[in-house]
Amino acid sequence: MSKISFPCALVVSSQGSAHDQLAGGRGLHLSLRKRHQISLRFTLRAVSFGHPRGTVTDRLPHSEGRLLRGNLIRMTDYDQRLVDLYDHDNPDGPDHDFYRTLADEVSAESVLDLGCGTGILTVTFTQGGRDVVGLDPSATMLAYARGRAGADAVNWVLGDSSSIPRDGFDYAVMTGNVAQHIPDTDWERTLLDLRQALETGGILAFESRNPAVRAWENWASRERTTRETLHGTLVEWQDVLETSPGTVELRAHNLFAQTNETVTETLLLTFREQNTLEQQLNAAGFVVEATYGDWRRNPFNEGSPIMIFVARAR
Ligand SMILES: C[S@@+](CC[C@H](N)C(=O)[O-])C[C@H]1O[C@@H](n2cnc3c(N)ncnc32)[C@H](O)[C@@H]1O
Repeated sequence: MSKISFPCALVVSSQGSAHDQLAGGRGLHLSLRKRHQISLRFTLRAVSFGHPRGTVTDRLPHSEGRLLRGNLIRMTDYDQRLVDLYDHDNPDGPDHDFYRTLADEVSAESVLDLGCGTGILTVTFTQGGRDVVGLDPSATMLAYARGRAGADAVNWVLGDSSSIPRDGFDYAVMTGNVAQHIPDTDWERTLLDLRQALETGGILAFESRNPAVRAWENWASRERTTRETLHGTLVEWQDVLETSPGTVELRAHNLFAQTNETVTETLLLTFREQNTLEQQLNAAGFVVEATYGDWRRNPFNEGSPIMIFVARAR
């Protein structure tokens, strides 16, 4: 799958309309691509020190726009139109089945979904009366999640792992490659926060792309693709650059034909090695119980596209 997003490392610029001028270039955008092909559907704008005037985020309550990490003020948000397309482009599938089945197997009674996005998977964890928390730093994503069927059964929280509202969870997930969206500066703290949130014996599960496969080499496409969306005709193309070993910059261009607005997103994704992730999990207080290479639970090998970690809090 291919949800590619990065709240903290995206630079966005746009051109072509009055809206673009209002949106300005102060933001950081995040993009997500379809499960089977990397096409950007989803935009995150992370803005320092305030909302950009004239964007959809202005219609959200002010408190929704703050990222909650000490004194660091980072505002994140996505282009509303791309959030609206997210579930269509990233429907429920085998990855969600994997995480739901695991929840059943570990008899989870409480679930923490860190980086829950639109909440498409999050709400399904509530079946059986589980206590479910969905947490995401994007106000636009969270607003979408709150509006979906079944949302009332979830406790939605705006923020990153430093905003996890309580401990005692017995199951935590980061789905849709959320791990790759969290830069190294925040990653180890995120694991520590997750360990603290879980009770001893609790399970953390997440996936991250295998750096050895170098998937990004297939993502670049100067060729424009066009599709009809609920927001009109959308034209997409992208550039990719490995800026340093394990860090990939993806520049995604989204042209909304109706308004002649092009939103360009620069996205940084961190590809961590299996050994690195295992060491980091261990240092944070986890024992890795399994590393799968696909959603059917085949063991991970060097050619597997993804690494799916199942780790127990010790
Ligand atoms: C590709 S989406 C995945 C959403 C959802 N988990 C899914 O599977 O559909 C990545 C999500 O990670 C969130 N995110 C980015 N940085 C994060 C961080 N530091 N902590 C938690 N979530 C983060 C983004 O806001 C975005 O909603």
